Amino acid sequence: MIAKSTIDQVFETARVEEVIGDFVQLKKAGSNFKGLSPFSDERSPSFMVSPVKQIWKDFSSGKGGNAITFLMEHEHFTYPEAIIYLAKKYNIEIEETERTDEQKKEANERESLYLVNEFAKDYFEKTMFKTDQGQAIGLSYFKERGFTNETIKTFNLGYSLDDWQAFTDEALKKGYQLEFLEKTGLTIVKEDKKFDRFKGRVMFPIHSMSGRVLGFGGRILKVDKKAAKYLNSPESEVYHKSKILYGIYHAKQSIAKDDNCYLVEGYTDVIQFYQTGIKNVVASSGTALTPEQIRLINRLTNNITVLFDGDAAGIRASIRGIDLILEQGMNVRVCSFPEGEDPDSFAKKNTREELIEYLEDHAMDFIQFKASLLVEDAKNDPIKKAETIRDIVNSIAKIPDQIKKEVYIQECSRIMDISEDVLFSTLAQINKKEAQDANKKYKSQQKAFNIVKPEVKTRKVDLQYELERKIIEILLLYGTETEDFEDLVLKESDDGELQLEPVTHNAKVFEKVYLDLQEDEMQFTNPSFKSLYYSIIDTLHQNNGFSTKGFINGLDQDLASEVTTILMNDERYRLHDWERNHIIPKEKKHTISQLVTQTILTLRCYLIDKKVAEYQNETLKEDVNSKSILEDVKDYVGLKMLLSRKLGKVVGGKI
Ligand code: CTP
Ligand code: MN
Repeated sequence: MIAKSTIDQVFETARVEEVIGDFVQLKKAGSNFKGLSPFSDERSPSFMVSPVKQIWKDFSSGKGGNAITFLMEHEHFTYPEAIIYLAKKYNIEIEETERTDEQKKEANERESLYLVNEFAKDYFEKTMFKTDQGQAIGLSYFKERGFTNETIKTFNLGYSLDDWQAFTDEALKKGYQLEFLEKTGLTIVKEDKKFDRFKGRVMFPIHSMSGRVLGFGGRILKVDKKAAKYLNSPESEVYHKSKILYGIYHAKQSIAKDDNCYLVEGYTDVIQFYQTGIKNVVASSGTALTPEQIRLINRLTNNITVLFDGDAAGIRASIRGIDLILEQGMNVRVCSFPEGEDPDSFAKKNTREELIEYLEDHAMDFIQFKASLLVEDAKNDPIKKAETIRDIVNSIAKIPDQIKKEVYIQECSRIMDISEDVLFSTLAQINKKEAQDANKKYKSQQKAFNIVKPEVKTRKVDLQYELERKIIEILLLYGTETEDFEDLVLKESDDGELQLEPVTHNAKVFEKVYLDLQEDEMQFTNPSFKSLYYSIIDTLHQNNGFSTKGFINGLDQDLASEVTTILMNDERYRLHDWERNHIIPKEKKHTISQLVTQTILTLRCYLIDKKVAEYQNETLKEDVNSKSILEDVKDYVGLKMLLSRKLGKVVGGKI
């Protein structure tokens, strides 16, 4: 168990914008930050982080919370994992209370897999630097490839002894369980025999965006036709090949800063580039890029430059996959290297300046590249040329931005020497077909939906729900503000008539709300709001103010989500309309006291209506004392009229 003191310190130290900034590219927007939601596939930012309130809100998925909940949602950490992660990030020493055997057993499986991987990474590193075989074979191999000690240490490169079970034995000796060694794939278990998967290979640990070791790639050193050159960890709870990019942890900051990401194929391409001084580079590890991988990059930048090895066949094969990147609305450039070179060998031969110059000179827009390449192919073949046009326009059709599309059509018309009209009509055909396909798909989904429909309950706009929510909102946003409240009190005038007279008194918003609701014995009907209401009032009473980040931590996920929605709702205006329309939203603050009074009065009116309706139902029944009920109803109606007049005053009407 992590000691309470450590948890407290983590809470004091962690800044939500810094924690999230490691995963999402955040841009300053007024007093907040905004970025693309890491939880959905969106193109305009609806993800907000408030450094002042120390909370975040994702308007596209509805999720929200503090730094800890972000890590739990995004990295799928458990609560303790999130604390440990933050403690590491902020160099806070973790104090642990002693774990019982029971608790050790309960430590969940994923954590065990991470631990095994972490141990393996350390072990392979140590083996390479500290054993004779490691130095003579592993280290010297990397040296030969031109990697410096610093680079080797940065990427935690290592060596696995050429021995059937050296690693497995050591891990078992250290108390790691065979179950987890097998699940990470580090050990292969066959009946009663155990083998090291990566025997005799140099090791490339694969890090997550946040720096945890998820798996490994191992390169063979001997020339062996039967064995694969690179061997990778198998899929596991923590290693999903299609969802990671090699190098992303080391590259993420540079990608965001340079607003571009270089995409290469191999581990060594990444490392060599990094060492040469170009750090915004990741590898897809030899497979076609998946949408998840593209999304990973898309969180950091909108621009991607794909680097091809210098063989023509490879380029043609890779081109297909690139349409996927266009579909995600990214700007794609491509760059190929001279025949026989890959990014690794080319970077090794050149200085940083030369490399940058080469990339600047040779990187070209993908669609232009594709067009010129295909035009070359189809030069003297009219049938092929027609195919080619269709192919290029297909790529252009994937681009979500209309203006960009047009620009590309014009460009391609020039490159391929064909009229823009033909290209536009081809585009129209493709769009039409896609629309038809989408419509078909929609219709079949509709059918499926129809079957489910009876079970889907739609929530009517519920006034009481909205009012209760409004009260929570008032408390969260303005609870501790001191305001002048103008109450209307019934007074007898000089000529003996009853009149409503304004009386001003000064109070804290939460006190006013609390006292007013108590006076009327009003209860929240929504259980979430009810429990939130009491938590907020309690916290405000005790502390006379509260930090949203601490408060959110005591709530369960649903309530935390509700609270962040409320807290960030204001910001939302700024996010969408403010910049675009240059409209500064009306600050609610100017009219806090009016807002409070109006809300409470409206709720009271609503409750009275409800009461009256209940009474009317009662009177329909037999053997009830309808006379006394009628009296009550009369009282209520009188009260309602009074309240309505008050309300009229508050909202600006005349009494
Ligand atoms: N790869 C793999 N499994 C293989 C071969 C390749 O996973 N059997 C992946 C590795 O991530 C490798 C990348 O594909 O880094 C590119 O492969 P390749 O071009 O063959 O290797 P290089 O990176 O050029 O490797 P090296 O320079 O070490 O020969
Ligand atoms: Mn290579």
